[in-house]
Amino acid sequence: MYTDKVMDHFMNPRNMGELENASGVGTVGNAKCGDIMRIFLDIDENQVIQDVKFKTFGCGAAVATSSMATELIKGKTVEEALKVTNKAVCDALDGLPPVKVHCSLLAEEAVHAALWDYAKKNNIVIEGLKEPVADIHEHDHGEEEE
Ligand code: FES
Repeated sequence: MYTDKVMDHFMNPRNMGELENASGVGTVGNAKCGDIMRIFLDIDENQVIQDVKFKTFGCGAAVATSSMATELIKGKTVEEALKVTNKAVCDALDGLPPVKVHCSLLAEEAVHAALWDYAKKNNIVIEGLKEPVADIHEHDHGEEEE
């Protein structure tokens, strides 16, 4: 049911943990399945993501997508990180079963929430970044379709 890449990131998650003094922290949950994901970003003065960690209390696909999302945004600027969609995360994992695509949405939203926190703390505006929701189930209307 899962691709080798999903299994790999689930069994050996990259960047798991937390960051002390993170530049931005984002927490997003999905009330439907009860899963919660938290992303910590360390962003330098050039708005480049130097480090990123995640903590996920959720299903295997949520762990794998958080792991892959952290890999994809590490070393990127905040603008580039914003463009890493849940589809990009799914593609990088060679796909997810349809019932698990919403898990990747959690990863995208958690990254956005952490970027939002960073922008707020530094009084800056990241173009294209919308205020995140705490529960992705709230706007879970067909967005997981490709
Ligand atoms: Fe909820 Fe995967 S089942 S995030």
